[in-house]
Amino acid sequence: MKKIMVLPGDGIGPEIVNETLKVMDFFIEKSNLEISYDFGDIGGIAIDKYGIPLKDETLEMCKNSDAVLLGAVGGPKWETTEPGKPRPEDALLKVRKEMSLFANLRPVKIYKSLIDSSTLKKEVIEGVDILVLRELTGGIYFGKRERIIADDDVFAYDTELYHLYEIERIVKLAFETARLRRKKVTSVDKANILESSRLWRETVNRIHKNYSDIELNHMYVDNTSMQLIRNPKQFDVIVTSNMFGDILSDETAMISGSIGLLPSASLGDNNSGMYEPIHGSAPDIQGTGKANPIAQILSLAMLFRYSLGFKKEADIIEIAVEKVLEKGYRTPDIYAAKGQLVNTKEIGGLIMDEIKEAI
Ligand code: IPM
Ligand code: MG
Repeated sequence: MKKIMVLPGDGIGPEIVNETLKVMDFFIEKSNLEISYDFGDIGGIAIDKYGIPLKDETLEMCKNSDAVLLGAVGGPKWETTEPGKPRPEDALLKVRKEMSLFANLRPVKIYKSLIDSSTLKKEVIEGVDILVLRELTGGIYFGKRERIIADDDVFAYDTELYHLYEIERIVKLAFETARLRRKKVTSVDKANILESSRLWRETVNRIHKNYSDIELNHMYVDNTSMQLIRNPKQFDVIVTSNMFGDILSDETAMISGSIGLLPSASLGDNNSGMYEPIHGSAPDIQGTGKANPIAQILSLAMLFRYSLGFKKEADIIEIAVEKVLEKGYRTPDIYAAKGQLVNTKEIGGLIMDEIKEAI
């Protein structure tokens, strides 16, 4: 029996997780998949209930599961600039770190039927297929930070720190993954300024010697942000640090038309992992029925594929999503004048219909 921990979180999280669980329930019932799942609170909802964003028991349950399915965390209600106050985002970082999920896979693909939803020109984005591989348990997200209040000055700092082993393992994974794709790796850094980036670049070059079949280039992060909208087709696998990956993956996601479409997987050394949409909790549309559950549903497909080895079921889900989009159904985030506007539950139901037909 495979155990999944479901953490719906805040904002639109519970709404889109709800649609995704309909898919999971269907597979449990109809395909006899041996899966059971439990729920836990994470983020703002946990702060409201318990005063902290993640209880130890919830973390333990995550560690003891075969995979975690996460909605989203955070919202204006819990935003604070006061040092030491609990933040929803701390919970996310804690799960990533405690489960050693050092590799964050953020694939970006263009759906033919959605080409008009992108703000970029059709000829620029047609055929784009990028995997952003973001380092997830190191760098400035986890380095020492502090605010100092002195008599004559106030200052604050954060630290970007990378150990050699942290760079090595993500870079190896980048080359291995590129082998299964178009054999091209772009390593993104800021080696003209940062010492941690210089270590990163040196390490990439050294490891590349074992992967001579893979084409490698280095790119500064500022240039990368420009190249991504100038000519995104030049990229295959992008490997980069935690912070640069956070920023660039939002930009890359928008090439596809909506960040509401893209799932992500966070993986460690074993099969366990955490699966979540790239987008956030979108509190502005919470409860309106406007949320797009596709990224969440596709996150379940990734969970099936990477953590449980249910490849057939993952394919069925991905094809069902594609069909619904081809038929012209659109949530507001991907609606561009034509097509039929539907809400969260309706598009969830339409995806379910396609899945039922495929079984
Ligand atoms: C992401 C998010 C998170 C991050 C936030 C919510 C902490 O932006 O997963 O990209 O910065 O990693
Ligand atoms: Mg982000």
